[in-house]
Amino acid sequence: MKKLVFITRNILPDGLNLLRSHGFEVKINLLDRPLNEEELSFEAQNAFALITMLSDRIDAPFLERNSHLKVISNYAVGFNNIDVAKAHELKIIIGNTPEVLTEATAEFALGLMISVARNFSSSHQAASMGLWRDWNPTAFLGHSLKGKTLGIVGLGRIGLRLAQMCAHAFDMNIIYCGPRQKINSLGAQYVSLPTLLGQSDFISLHVPLNEETRHLIGREELVLMKKNCILINTARGEIIDQEALIEALERKQIYGAGLDVTTPEPLNPDDKLFQLDNVLVIPHIGSASLQARAAMSILSAQNIIAAFEGGELPGRVNPKADN
Ligand code: NAP
Ligand code: GLV
Ligand code: GLV
Repeated sequence: MKKLVFITRNILPDGLNLLRSHGFEVKINLLDRPLNEEELSFEAQNAFALITMLSDRIDAPFLERNSHLKVISNYAVGFNNIDVAKAHELKIIIGNTPEVLTEATAEFALGLMISVARNFSSSHQAASMGLWRDWNPTAFLGHSLKGKTLGIVGLGRIGLRLAQMCAHAFDMNIIYCGPRQKINSLGAQYVSLPTLLGQSDFISLHVPLNEETRHLIGREELVLMKKNCILINTARGEIIDQEALIEALERKQIYGAGLDVTTPEPLNPDDKLFQLDNVLVIPHIGSASLQARAAMSILSAQNIIAAFEGGELPGRVNPKADN
């Protein structure tokens, strides 16, 4: 009998074809919505492997009920939706899609920096509401990027790529913080988080979400930021204390924020964040280029094929089990 791979949303076909050519049967959730826990458990019961989305909650009870699964390949680089320790205990391999979305996400963060700094959203909205009456020499005055200081919180794959883009294209001065100093050719300076918060004109968050990074940016951190500071988050919503951010934005304590991720997701259209004119809220599409999503489709399939063949996964989250 063919091994079944269940895919929780309809992803680009590249990886599905690869799975089929390796003899797997592929079943896809064709409903245009995420499955609830019960539906997902039903589909998982006969599966060898799953390809999951970051919106699927793969918690301990789910894993315990589905301990027959050989591998779960997350269609994302972040894996905070999965209880990795429990999966490891149950010898379920967890895969993810690093590298292939780095370029797309870094480009996106750069796009947010420019959009917020130059008031794309508020000026578009004003024009569309009939408020474009003349060429106003002092309307929508923003900030340029050239020569400014960019603070990267988490100089990993995406953080480093954004730093390179900003150093090369805009001669930006790069500072960063994180658990350890990194060797880099940009002359990026390793600083503490409080120093980074106090010196940066732009701050971009690139840490994974875990117990240490939840609310890493709260009231105390926002107070340290410069008045002209622009905060960019393409990592995970929970890294920011969103209530504290809203207060800081309302008080114009910082210049603005560009958020590809929020708490919760999806964000309610009535949320205060949508009413602030110095915030750009985007519905978590940082990796959504055709190129990145096609490569993620292939990589998430390759993870499953490698697990089946007993080889190294190209994107592996948990270390190999001892036995
Ligand atoms: P990565 O290469 O693992 O980089 C994460 C970096 O964060 C590492 O350099 C790590 O340092 C550092 N770090 C960990 N804890 C920290 C802390 N407490 N303070 C400061 N730095 C810390 O991951 P990536 O591929 O760049 O992805 C980063 C995150 O972006 C993902 O986890 C995901 O949540 C998010 N993401 C979002 C989108 C989107 O669509 N918006 C797309 C892709 C990724 P060490 O290496 O020294 O441990
Ligand atoms: C997207 O948010 C990812 O983690 O890949
Ligand atoms: C603006 O459009 C200019 O020509 O300066």
